[in-house]
Parts: sequence; structure tokens; C-alpha cells
Amino acid sequence: MRMPEIIRKKQLNKELSPEEIRFFVNGYTHDEIPDYQAAALTMAIWFNGMSTEEIGELTLAMAESGDTVDLSSIKGIKVDKHSSGGVADTTTIAVGPLVAACGGRMAKMSGRGLAHSGGTLDKLESIPGFSVNQDMQRFSEIVNTCGVSIIGQTANLVPADKKLYALRDVTATVDSMPLIAASIMSKKLAAGGDKILLDVKWGSGAFMHELEKAEKLARIMVDIGKHAGKETRAMVTDMNQPLGNAVGNALEVMEAIEILRGDAEGDLKDLIMELSAQILIMGAVHENRDEALKALEQAVSSGAAVERLKQMISLHGGNPAVCDDFSLLPQARKTESITAESAGYITAMQTDDIGTASVMIGAGREKKSDSIDPAVGLWLRKRLGDRVETGDVLADFYVNDTADLKEAADLFKKAVRIDSTRPEEKPLIVRTLS
Ligand code: URA
Ligand code: CA
Repeated sequence: MRMPEIIRKKQLNKELSPEEIRFFVNGYTHDEIPDYQAAALTMAIWFNGMSTEEIGELTLAMAESGDTVDLSSIKGIKVDKHSSGGVADTTTIAVGPLVAACGGRMAKMSGRGLAHSGGTLDKLESIPGFSVNQDMQRFSEIVNTCGVSIIGQTANLVPADKKLYALRDVTATVDSMPLIAASIMSKKLAAGGDKILLDVKWGSGAFMHELEKAEKLARIMVDIGKHAGKETRAMVTDMNQPLGNAVGNALEVMEAIEILRGDAEGDLKDLIMELSAQILIMGAVHENRDEALKALEQAVSSGAAVERLKQMISLHGGNPAVCDDFSLLPQARKTESITAESAGYITAMQTDDIGTASVMIGAGREKKSDSIDPAVGLWLRKRLGDRVETGDVLADFYVNDTADLKEAADLFKKAVRIDSTRPEEKPLIVRTLS
């Protein structure tokens, strides 16, 4: 087989065979195919797309390009949850303990967050003592003890994706539906869960700015799951404003704790409950959504959910007292309120810019080597559709280093649009595909 012929075939919009796809993935992973040929092929894919079969084969070949995780020492049905990104998505930290408190299992390996905000691992590390570095044996012990553990990836998972993603990043081919779907699903297949629940975001803070594209991506990924013989469900959810009010690492941990304690309501809690309900159904703990939601509400009101989080924190070496006393979490030195300059309704938020504003004050990384300040971030005081008067507080910024505060605050103000008419409400959960 020769790469120029494979590239030509895709350039002419013909379907690649499974052998050709595997030849490319294996050759590229092992440095036998150079970047320029891989770049030409990914560009041809960017223009011409791929069939369902091609995407399925690409995903399987990528999933098998490195180590795969064996979770068989963990009892029960392991449902892996994945969010397609977005700003301030704190769901995992609450979903894990909730599912565990209701008799489900969550054995989750997370990556590090790039771009808009810290990732789940960064958030957990804001808890004093908490270690996300656990070997596989300890990981399975923790899950078997308390039903939930969240750790960093240790194994060499999907090296094909690491190389391909870096190449796509510098050749303007990241935004290709088949390549995004294969990238996400190859990592999920290699991560060893029995079933997969996807939360595909759409809107101003998501990869997919248009709803139709998010729905298409969700459909493709559910089909890949089917191709691979793994039950996969996808929820398409709104990311036209930050999820919840907190944007920042320790701040998001506080918000997750408030929800588990039953002290906070709103879109973040609603999504946490719906995702958890799906996991309980997929994990064969409950038969239907109503039953699952009832059990989840009970876990919150009885205190079982926050107890489960405390237990997980202890087993990871962290201080569980943070759940009762937020002053034990990192605190920023200074708070600055951002106020509305006109009256009206909040009609739109440029959510990715709000994420960028939080990164500018230190809550996330601009490049991989940057360190994060766990204490800093912002807390929204108003949300889409809210009425505001001039001078009302839109958000509080929590900062340590004030060097970039003004620029960040200006970006935030520009990101929040205030108009005279109340906007139509958008549904948080657009649909669930299976
Ligand atoms: N997330 C991924 O993991 N891969 C992509 O290609 C895009 C988003
Ligand atoms: Ca949040």
C-alpha cells in the first residue's frame, strides 16, 4: 500500500477500505508515515468527510494504537462519562459521588484541561492533599470501596490521537466532524468502560457553535459506539452561558459541594441530575428516569451524596473537611465586582470569552506548561434572561495577581450583552440519543 494512492482516493471523495485506514493509522503512529502525507490526508478528509464505516474503522484503529485500560477488577457496570468541553463544566465532580451514593459505579480517568478553564483534575487538586495520581490497583481499590474514583491518565492511551491532534492543530483541520468524533471515541474505547455516556455541548462556549452540528457529532459518536459494540448514549446540551455560576478551580469545587449538599439549584444541578440518572439506567441500577431522579434527590437530601464525596476525597489523600468549611480551600486575596453599564435583559453571553477572561487571571492554562492558580476565577451573579439595572453586579472576580485584571474585566463586559427585550429561553437538554 502507498500513501499517495490513499491520499488521492480521499481527494477524489472515494471510500477508504479498512486496510487502508489501518495502514495509515499504524504507519503514522510508528513514524513510518511523515507529517506531510498525514497532513494531506487529513485535509482531504476535512474537505470530503468520511462514511460511517470509515469513521468506525478509523476510531478502532486509533483506539488500538497504544495501551488499553482493563477495568475488569472493578465490580459492576462501569459507565464512562465524557463531556465535549465547554466553560466551567463541573459535572463530573458531583456526578461521581451521586451515582456511587445510589449504587452505581464511576471509574473515571480524566485528561488535563487546556483552553477555557481548568480540567476536572485541576479542580480536584485544589482540595488540599488530594492526589489524582493513583496506580491502577489503588484506583480499583478506591472504586470498589466507595464506588467512585477520578484519576489522571497514566497509560499510553491512543498515541495516534496525540500525534494526529497536534498535526490537525497546526494545519487547520481540527474542525472536521469525522476527525473530532474519532478522536473523542478512540480515547473512550481505550479507557475500558463498559458503556459510554456523552455530553455533547452546543453554543458560544462549545466546540460546536451550531446546534445542528452538535446533534450530528452526537449521532456519529453514538454510531461509532455501535460499530465498536459498546452501548453509547449522547445528550446534546446547552453551552451558551457558563454551566453553573462558578468559573475557576476551587470555586467550582465549592459549587459542586453546594449542589451535593442540596444548597444550590439551577442549570448545573439539573444537568448533574440528568447525567447521573442516565448513568444509573445504563448501569442497570434503575429502570427509568423518574425512579433514578427520585433516588438521586434522596441521596442529596439525606446527605449520602456529600458523604460519598468526603469518602472519595479521604481515599485520595485529601481533606474531607473542605465539604463543611470552604475556608479550607484556596482563597484569593482580592474580590472585584463587575457591574452592568446599562439596564435591560441579558440576551447573550460570549461564553468562550468568559472562559478566556478566567484564564487571563490565572484559572486556566494558555499553554501546556503554565501553572494554574486554584484560588482565582469568577462567580456569575446574573444569567441569561435575567433583568439587570445599571450598577447591578454581573460577576465577582476573585484574583491574586491583578496585572491582567483590567483586560480580563473588559473582555468579560464585552462578552455579556444587555438588550431591552427578554430573550427566549433555550432548553438546557436538547435531546438524548441512543
Ligand atoms: N476533543 C477531542 O478530544 N478531540 C477533538 O478532536 C476535539 C475535541
Ligand atoms: Ca461551573
